[in-house]
Amino acid sequence: MKPIYLDHAATSPMHPDVIQAMIPVMESTFGNPSSVHAFGREARHIVDVAREKVAASIGANDKQIIYTSGGTEADNMALIGVANARSEQGKHIITTAIEHHATLHAANYLESQGFEVTYLPVDESGAIKLADLQAALRPDTVLVSVMMINNETGIMQPIQAIGDLLQTHPAYFHTDAVQAYGTEEIDVDTLGVDLLSVSAHKINGPKGIGALYVRDGVPIKPITFGGEQERKRRAGTENVASIVGFGKAAELAMQKRTERKAAYQLLQDTFISELKLSGIDFFINGESGQRSAGIVNISFPGTNVESLLMNFDLSGVTVSSGSACTAGSVDPSHVLKTMYGEDDRVTNSIRFSFGYGNTAESVAEAAQTVAAIIKRLTKGKE
Ligand SMILES: Cc1ncc(COP(=O)(O)O)c(C=O)c1O
Repeated sequence: MKPIYLDHAATSPMHPDVIQAMIPVMESTFGNPSSVHAFGREARHIVDVAREKVAASIGANDKQIIYTSGGTEADNMALIGVANARSEQGKHIITTAIEHHATLHAANYLESQGFEVTYLPVDESGAIKLADLQAALRPDTVLVSVMMINNETGIMQPIQAIGDLLQTHPAYFHTDAVQAYGTEEIDVDTLGVDLLSVSAHKINGPKGIGALYVRDGVPIKPITFGGEQERKRRAGTENVASIVGFGKAAELAMQKRTERKAAYQLLQDTFISELKLSGIDFFINGESGQRSAGIVNISFPGTNVESLLMNFDLSGVTVSSGSACTAGSVDPSHVLKTMYGEDDRVTNSIRFSFGYGNTAESVAEAAQTVAAIIKRLTKGKE
């Protein structure tokens, strides 16, 4: 039995072209990009070429890209870096209750440092309301951070509308675009964002590398100390091979974005129609919201998440219950709790996410396996 991997929102397999781009770097380009000799200059050159590719993939220029160790560090840097740089102007931050923990825990940390944070709620659609944001804005609000696509439900947030709204407010606007990158069109100017986080391993690139886009003029204090890399904004020797892989993954994502989005949507549609055909009882969480092509979160009434995860895994269907970081411990999802309160959905939902390597056949087979398990687990409970 070959497992069918439907957990691309947790991480995705590396594209063969990405691997091919990284191998020669690991084999022979070992210089430190900060060194002025030829070895260093060669490494610097490939880091800069990749930076241009990453920048182009979001409509930015290379000077606006800070490499990080991934989405988590980019989110931490955006929140803590901007809050610390702007604390004289105000100590109020707005984010949402459904952010990834990389943002939420950074916000919690800032609260411990004397900042005040408003966490916007979402309703059953899984999206925030602009009116709630408008009501929460204050003269001392220095930063608004709202993710582009939720990693558990795939629900899109109204980023461009928030960008428009904030044109007349001095608060800076950060979006965590980790789950949108690679399938959604991202142009930092059209979206009206000042800071934007991306991560390579969600777009078939290597793990441990990502970037934060910072608009010109946005003040940001470093959160690491020791070197002058990344224009004095992120200390530490660059992860050269991964940066090259990231550049390749960004380039591929840009070239194939429309194709990928259509393909993932077809996979999701195939999966859902196969579940419907089976006759089992299920609900799509956030059904009324606008959903990403690659992610769907499904509630199976009369089941519980632990036995679902165990049975799916034993049958070769690889999924998770939500955010990868909490996947090991099946804590109730903070996202579903915000959407549904104490509803059973919080304890009987699974995230299915589609991507590179999945085929319509494998996804249909996975849906049939899922349906057979649900029938077995709910037998006699109807
Ligand atoms: C929305 C979102 N933000 C941030 C992250 C963290 O990214 P990384 O794993 O690159 O640190 C993830 C990863 O699950 C995510 O889904």
